[in-house]
Amino acid sequence: MPTPPPWGDRRNLSFLRDVQPVFDRHCASCHSGLEPAGAVDLSGGLTARYNRAYDTILEKKLIARSNVGDDARITQPLEFGSHKSRLVEILREKGHAERVRLSGEDWYRLTAWIDGNGPYHDGFINKRLAVPPYDLPADAALLAKLSAVHARRCGSCHEPGAVTRIDWIDLRRPEASRFLVAPLGSGAGEGTAGAGDAADAGGAGAPLVQGARLVRRTRLTRRARPTQEARDAR
Ligand code: HEC
Ligand code: HEC
Repeated sequence: MPTPPPWGDRRNLSFLRDVQPVFDRHCASCHSGLEPAGAVDLSGGLTARYNRAYDTILEKKLIARSNVGDDARITQPLEFGSHKSRLVEILREKGHAERVRLSGEDWYRLTAWIDGNGPYHDGFINKRLAVPPYDLPADAALLAKLSAVHARRCGSCHEPGAVTRIDWIDLRRPEASRFLVAPLGSGAGEGTAGAGDAADAGGAGAPLVQGARLVRRTRLTRRARPTQEARDAR
């Protein structure tokens, strides 16, 4: 009997549930934010189709995977898989081998996921749900409200567009959303962009309280109308 993997042999790998946590633990400290290291953003926020890290992996071709949409050329032996993937190669090279220590299980997750052709969802999702799911990345009203808050509060130092990104919203821990925990420049005093709200709720901090509330409300909406991928991520 082969030994089942630590996540069990009764379910498929889901990118959000099984792989993103590896990036959160080991990569996002450098590969996220306004200037991600090497311009490689591996953070977990949702984007129009997938999430930020998955988009990055596809865009930069960090994994060698079969794509049925490619041309009809014959696949050569050993053309795809973890042994051919930049994502694995870079972690073995000197810089990263020193910076990053993956546990055996994390390696297993990463390579098994790549060798499974790098799926995002763990199952078929193209079903019509009784209640249409809330679509955070498409929530233009939320983006407009957050932009207005940030134009007031951050505009003196940042282009508001640069610090207002829907994919920075952390639905599981709204208070950890990047634009709330970001450091403020010295001109704005000590602390983070989300700190001190309660103390001066009527003053300069007020827009931030609104920002935090917007994020929290978004999470509630999403919980009430969950998408397949929110269920995947559990
Ligand atoms: C301590 C900071 C740090 C951590 C942690 C880190 N990286 Fe990096 N990474 C960098 C820097 C800096 C670069 C830019 C190139 C270089 O200096 O190696 C980079 C570059 C990269 C690149 C682009 C390399 C290329 O040649 O295309 C990839 C892919 C990458 N990292 C993946 C990862 C992954 C996956 C993890 C986590 C398992 C990770 N990194 C963790 C700092 C880090
Ligand atoms: C007084 C100027 C100032 C204001 C106001 C300000 N910031 Fe910043 N912000 C900075 C500076 C300077 C840095 C770079 C700090 C660093 O590199 O550690 C920064 C960095 C950041 C980062 C990058 C941190 C990271 O983890 O990559 C984010 C995100 C950010 N700010 C968001 C915001 C948001 C959102 C607001 C408004 C709510 C805001 N900032 C208001 C000066 C400011």
